Amino acid sequence: MFIDTHCHLSREDYADIDKIIEYNKKADVDKIVVSGCSRESIDEVMNFKDKYDMVYVTIGYHPEYADNVREKDLDYLKDLLSEKKVVGIGEIGLDYHYTKDNKDKQIWLFEEQLKIAESLNLPVVIHSRDATMDTINTLKKYNVRGIIHCFSGSLETANIYIKMRFMLGIGGVVTFKNSKLKEVVEKIPLESIVLETDSPYLAPVPYRGKINSSKYLDIICRFISNLKNISYEELAEITSKNASRLFDFNK
Ligand code: NI
Repeated sequence: MFIDTHCHLSREDYADIDKIIEYNKKADVDKIVVSGCSRESIDEVMNFKDKYDMVYVTIGYHPEYADNVREKDLDYLKDLLSEKKVVGIGEIGLDYHYTKDNKDKQIWLFEEQLKIAESLNLPVVIHSRDATMDTINTLKKYNVRGIIHCFSGSLETANIYIKMRFMLGIGGVVTFKNSKLKEVVEKIPLESIVLETDSPYLAPVPYRGKINSSKYLDIICRFISNLKNISYEELAEITSKNASRLFDFNK
């Protein structure tokens, strides 16, 4: 019933991955799109997709690795993208939260990966933190579609992305007490919303601060369905359809 369009899975965070997958199934989660965004995590998630039916992957280099990624790493990425169940590139993007000093490198890495996405017609999963304008302006240069993962911007920014054919990934943050995201989610069209957990991070209330997991999608779904005044089942169905429109789960 549910599709988690963005999460992370690693032995570093979860002692028993088999159990996590089991719990997901019990919580009506059909598919999870796991992101491998460093050289090491790419290798790890490629193994998980072969091992577990519900696991699909997006791979790409997160901006936090901008200083270390070389051409050969991009070639490595390119070679893996044709493999089964690799449904997109991500998370990629710009992150100026801790530093802007390597901005040029971040934009270089982002653009290299957008070029690959464009040439292979693969969707992208975008990470943007404190870098909205540069993210928008960079994305505008390429003919790509995808998800703005963990969207938490203003309604105005949401509308810009929607106009650019992007969907907004909404997760646990919407349940946080002081989150302004609620008002934004109320106003954006259902066709532009996909559910995500970004687990193991950003667990929804009442698990805020604890380790997150895709099994909590039901909490996020219930919360958003109340905001949108539709049934829980309806929201699950619409958001899963949105995810399936974007990602090729037959690959
Ligand atoms: Ni993430």
